[in-house]
Amino acid sequence: MFARKTKLVADMLYKRPKGWKSLLWNSSMAQLKRSGPLMAPVHISIEPTNACNARCPVCETGKGDMQRKTGFLDEDLYKEFIDNVAPTTAVLLYYFMGEPFMHRSSYDMIRYARDKGIYVESCTNGDFVDPEGVIYSDINKISFQLGGMDNATHQRYRIRSKLDKAVGNLERLLDLRRKHRNSSVEVEVGFIVMRHNEEQVDDFLKWAKEIGVDRASVIDPCARNMMEAHAYLPKNKKYWFYDEEAFAQGILRPKKIPQNECVWIWNSIQLNWDGTAVPCCRDTNGVLPFGNVFDKGINAIFNGEAATDFRHQLLQRQGDISICKLCSGYGLPQLQHTNPAGFTIQRHTINDGDIPSHDEAIANAQNTLLSISRK
Ligand SMILES: C[S@@+](CC[C@H](N)C(=O)[O-])C[C@H]1O[C@@H](n2cnc3c(N)ncnc32)[C@H](O)[C@@H]1O
Ligand code: SF4
Ligand code: SF4
Repeated sequence: MFARKTKLVADMLYKRPKGWKSLLWNSSMAQLKRSGPLMAPVHISIEPTNACNARCPVCETGKGDMQRKTGFLDEDLYKEFIDNVAPTTAVLLYYFMGEPFMHRSSYDMIRYARDKGIYVESCTNGDFVDPEGVIYSDINKISFQLGGMDNATHQRYRIRSKLDKAVGNLERLLDLRRKHRNSSVEVEVGFIVMRHNEEQVDDFLKWAKEIGVDRASVIDPCARNMMEAHAYLPKNKKYWFYDEEAFAQGILRPKKIPQNECVWIWNSIQLNWDGTAVPCCRDTNGVLPFGNVFDKGINAIFNGEAATDFRHQLLQRQGDISICKLCSGYGLPQLQHTNPAGFTIQRHTINDGDIPSHDEAIANAQNTLLSISRK
């Protein structure tokens, strides 16, 4: 462990990738158990929207349990924000609690961050992805997440998503990438393994190899409570990150529980579509807001009272923090090396097919909330 860490630091000092000073400083502060002051986070996750066409029953958005207002990231505020953080941000994770490609400006917004030299990656249910838009955006990595190898199985969890649409878009993207040799987009396909699809994992891996993706990953499922765990966790325990003994006693908790530490949040910040910062992706409903980065700027928020108090509490009593109870922590963000887009593609069309307008998507989300609260 010590040797690995030393090698990591030596490697970083030698290569000096963007953000190396912040990563070194902030991680040392975490190690020294100091809640601040910190340098700017090297990793930012941003939510293009918390609206979604799908209804995955463990996801707060999908099951209609989203306590935050539904909305879409404002393109102008986003661009101003990117201008400010570009010098210090190594990685931008372009998704959170919704379907990123339901935002009609996603390809342009990704391209904007790419042109500023930020490594960008995203994750999608695939239904609305416009392959031409993806190539144009110059995104570094995109991951299509599937729920089964046939539509009926896929829709057991990815309710309302259509497997043929997602796979069609994925295959067209792979085709298009072969034609655009300058594109360096890395294409991944993920399989959320659950009780109803665990028998399909081998078929998934074989298929993924045949179609020529760069990486296929089998994703261990998460659940928010015991009822969901009983419904969705696979029989095969190799896909579990939950403690089996605790589970047998009716308690859902991860195998590994961090002890007053989480170096991740010393280096990263999570932003909701309206600019509100929260500690990490486990705060899906925005219960621990740090303030708004569009109003105050990233540094005032990251070193503000709420964020500093949160890190202080984490160092003292992590067991009392609601969002940490089902999490094993995420380690250090990787400092991806990337150059700004080195090519130009004119995007003549945007295949927005049947993407609902932003107003329709917001109304749909409100209807889901209403129908669930009436039950
Ligand atoms: C909330 S989704 C947002 C992005 C996009 N809508 C999607 O589903 O890919 C973020 C991530 O959660 C994953 N996910 C959803 N439900 C999950 C579950 N029960 N267990 C593990 N991962 C899950 C998705 O596959 C995706 O990688
Ligand atoms: S596709 Fe993603 S955002 Fe949509 S309901 Fe499923 S997990 Fe949630
Ligand atoms: S929920 Fe996980 S990632 Fe978030 S602060 Fe707690 S341990 Fe860290």
